[in-house]
Amino acid sequence: MRGTQVPNYPERTHLTPQDYPAAAGRIAPYVRRTPVLRATVDGRPVSFKLEHLQVAGVFKIRGALNALLSASPAPAGVVTASGGNHGLGVATGARWLGIPATVFVPATVPEVKSRRIAAQGADVVKTGSVYADAERAARSFAAEHGRYYVHAYDDPAVAAGQGTAGLEIAADLPDCDVVAVPVGGGGLLTGVAGAVAPCPVVAVEPEGCPTLHAAVAAGEPVEVGADSVAASALGASRIGNLALAACQAYPVSLAMVDDGQILAARDRLWEEFRLAVEPAAATVFAAWLSGQVPGENPCLLLSGANADWIPALDQASRILSLSPVIAAPPPRGRPAAMRAPTASTQIVGFVPAAAAVLAAAVVAAVAAGSTPCARRMAAAFRAIHVSPAAVGCRPPSKCSKLQRSASGSMMIAAGSAAIPAATIAASA
Ligand SMILES: Cc1ncc(COP(=O)(O)O)c(C=O)c1O
Repeated sequence: MRGTQVPNYPERTHLTPQDYPAAAGRIAPYVRRTPVLRATVDGRPVSFKLEHLQVAGVFKIRGALNALLSASPAPAGVVTASGGNHGLGVATGARWLGIPATVFVPATVPEVKSRRIAAQGADVVKTGSVYADAERAARSFAAEHGRYYVHAYDDPAVAAGQGTAGLEIAADLPDCDVVAVPVGGGGLLTGVAGAVAPCPVVAVEPEGCPTLHAAVAAGEPVEVGADSVAASALGASRIGNLALAACQAYPVSLAMVDDGQILAARDRLWEEFRLAVEPAAATVFAAWLSGQVPGENPCLLLSGANADWIPALDQASRILSLSPVIAAPPPRGRPAAMRAPTASTQIVGFVPAAAAVLAAAVVAAVAAGSTPCARRMAAAFRAIHVSPAAVGCRPPSKCSKLQRSASGSMMIAAGSAAIPAATIAASA
């Protein structure tokens, strides 16, 4: 019984259609209805469900809250195990509801995730090296202390909560003919497959965390390793029973991507759409890019954004290629109103050697009065009190964007590591 002991595995093996509207009604006052972005990539239509913009930067708040709000009796304390994001969902929901939370994570948890869990006021216990170690410790802690245990994925309340994202896709994209989701333990897959049915779903896994592929091959959940850039999110050691049942009940197909594809897809989401997601979320775009997501109007669920990261393309080699561009003339005939933009300047990272080269290029361009673009960059640097000698500026697209947009965005490199920092508003 919830609230007094640890449930072993869910009493129910599948969700019912009523579970979805019930979950949606329960969590609606707390969660965001995330938008859908329709786009065209390589000449083909594709839509993104921007669930990485969800509260706490991940869809997990949906399932966590549905579990906490539907538990009876109301939990006096909650325990969970997580690779990071589910713990963040539970910690956030528990704080809103005034419930003390303890979150067990493997010692390998990304710092950004444990920091964000702790910031919600939860006790964070690091133990073992993989999710399965944290799960064992969390279950015995919950049993010992009589705390409510919220499973990260194999719980009908959690899966129904995650499925509310699928309900929104069905409502907002009536022409959608396939939905792709990343799979770890399969709670998201379970919920979404039922919510969008009969629309087919593609379940995407990293090569190094093949819980679902292994289970389908074996005909039952089996233990697998977790070795991928997406392991902190998709590194469950075995697929949930609910997810395997969902694969039998609904039209679910499997896709697999490797780490190189994941990172390239993630960079492309940033380069083309300014969508900053964590590796797990990029798996679905990687699968689509590699032709593993069929359909005329696919929707890719971008599941989370809890990572510290500099896009690979934004690093040294790319920054070093800027110098010839600084001297290039701006496009002619742009509207006068856009000639004196306000730059919103985001500090993202730093490559010292590149910065020195680029700063020299900027200074030279400004000294020669060669381009309005260079003058604007220098003005922006001055306005935020950053000396050109300490700054590297980014490439052509950014310059023209700065000119095109009255509130243009210019990226500046500063600092010495992958540390997304404050956004500074600057007037150019
Ligand atoms: C960002 C992100 N995407 C996808 C998943 C996979 O969810 P599930 O374990 O329900 O399959 C997770 C799980 O932690 C996650 O954090």
